[in-house]
Amino acid sequence: MSKISAAITAVGSYVPDFVLTNKLLETMVDTNDEWITSRTGIKERRILKDKDKGTSFMAIEAAKNLIAKRNLNPEEIDMVIVATATPDMPVASTAVYTASQIGAVNAFAYDLVAACSSFLYGMSTAAKYVESGRYKKVLLIGADKMSSIIDYTDRATCIIFGDGAGAVLFEPNEDGLGVQDEYLRSDGVGREFLKIDAGGSLLPSSHDTVDKNQHFVFQDGRTVFKFAVSNMADVSEKIMERNKLSHDDVDFLIAHQANKRIIDATANRMGLDQAKVLMNIERYGNTTSATLPLLMSDYENQLKKGDNIVFAAFGGGFTWGSIYLKWAYNS
Ligand code: UT7
Repeated sequence: MSKISAAITAVGSYVPDFVLTNKLLETMVDTNDEWITSRTGIKERRILKDKDKGTSFMAIEAAKNLIAKRNLNPEEIDMVIVATATPDMPVASTAVYTASQIGAVNAFAYDLVAACSSFLYGMSTAAKYVESGRYKKVLLIGADKMSSIIDYTDRATCIIFGDGAGAVLFEPNEDGLGVQDEYLRSDGVGREFLKIDAGGSLLPSSHDTVDKNQHFVFQDGRTVFKFAVSNMADVSEKIMERNKLSHDDVDFLIAHQANKRIIDATANRMGLDQAKVLMNIERYGNTTSATLPLLMSDYENQLKKGDNIVFAAFGGGFTWGSIYLKWAYNS
């Protein structure tokens, strides 16, 4: 019997309707379109305005989009992972609620939290369950309502992030398609540079923490930028070397959309032409766990069976890594 690999066989996505443009941000904080565009590549981002809707709303919509496109019976789904940095609640799992709402009544589910690398790590996790032979259909969703943890008076963070969700289905493949290799890393040196101070066990929320805005994201952007540029390029180069992939062999780079300059630096180190570098940061900003599946969804028509794709991400923690995958279908 040939070896089982884990292939992505369907994708779906959801972004909210409300568009927060750079022009609109100019009316909220001391910034301007030229600064944001040249420093980040972002023009606009989507925001989930409804106060009564959390991350699960977008996760459910993305999953339903996948289910409808693929004509999938949700009762066949074995497992649901929601990769997120903004679960609906700290304890009751967003993935469990999502699974129930989409009719995945035979699945077990849990959240996977690793900042901006949540989806990349989730790809590794989902693949392992499929490769084991025990599970046939694993639904991995990346979803974040970043607007729920952003201080819209802080120009250093509010211009970067947006809301959105994407979903992919992993299934067994016996033709050598799907996940080929991974190189995942983390380093606690990053803990101080990108974080939310309050709301966890170390500093539970209180009137005092709210008064000090400690329930919002803090980022030392310059430091995170330096680590992101070198580390994302390093792991992408490493996975190419390890799998003897030249720049000609790589069909696409699907990289976390945090900053266009970080993506460009990674692509340059890999020696890739611009056409191979998939981007949508201009329209969505940094949607944290949703960037990678949103790219797959937006560019699904361009991805062809057998294409060699390198995924790369970098995020708080620090967490980062790369995955080499062979695309498994033509849409
Ligand atoms: O996804 C998870 C991982 N996150 C990342 O990868 C993000 C990494 N970091 C970044 O993308 C960039 O550091 C930022 C986009 C956040 C900031 O860009 P930067 O080029 O590193 O700017 P900076 O923080 O070094 O600030 C440069 C200047 C400062 O002014 P002075 O001190 O030089 O006078 C800032 O006060 O730009 C100022 N500045 C702004 N100006 C206009 C900071 N934010 C803004 C703003 N509009 N929104």
